Amino acid sequence: MESKTPKDSRTVITDLVLPSETNPIGNMFGGELLARMDRAASIAARRHSRRIVVTASVNHVAFNKMIPLGSVVTVEAHVSRAFKSSMEVFLDIWIEDRESGMRSKANEGIYTFVAVDEMGSPVPVPKLIPETTLEKERHAAALRRRQLSLLLAGKIAPKEATELKALFE
Ligand SMILES: CC(C)(COP(=O)(O)OP(=O)(O)OC[C@H]1O[C@@H](n2cnc3c(N)ncnc32)[C@H](O)[C@@H]1OP(=O)(O)O)[C@@H](O)C(=O)NCCC(=O)NCCS
Repeated sequence: MESKTPKDSRTVITDLVLPSETNPIGNMFGGELLARMDRAASIAARRHSRRIVVTASVNHVAFNKMIPLGSVVTVEAHVSRAFKSSMEVFLDIWIEDRESGMRSKANEGIYTFVAVDEMGSPVPVPKLIPETTLEKERHAAALRRRQLSLLLAGKIAPKEATELKALFE
């Protein structure tokens, strides 16, 4: 299977925040942003694997900034690491200033997708080769995040989380 780079899976979704997508104080509802992130991430995972993909876990989401009604929100997704059948997808969320057009980072998130066949059984995915410094950092840290997610899901024992343990030594 031919290796891919994060660029190959790059997915960008830009859309407005409408009144029905806001909370009582006029900022974007978190669930609406999560839905947009899940869509962008699933397209990125599909572009990497060219298979059916399912969300296996939401590893991390940080709602750092409020996103006001009327904002132009861009969700950018890349596969940051591929394992056997699973892929970590990194999401960067940007909002843009109406007058200057300058983008600022509002939030970020990390999801895990698994490629499956028509019966829902996991299937192998291509390797991912990171290119830039940021891609290399995200690729390296993905192993820790995978161990944390599997540990919290009860799918590995604490003694198997070697990368996580190394953080505290
Ligand atoms: C995700 C799913 C396919 C995993 O199937 P499974 O039978 O647990 O398969 P395995 O244990 O062999 O795991 C398959 C891969 O998923 C990864 N995985 C499973 N649970 C995970 C979790 N919580 N966090 C990170 N990775 C996980 C495993 O590490 C493995 O990765 P690898 O092949 O790269 O090593 C299965 O649980 C599923 O279909 N879940 C429902 C998905 C869904 O419907 N999502 C939408 C929610 S509405």
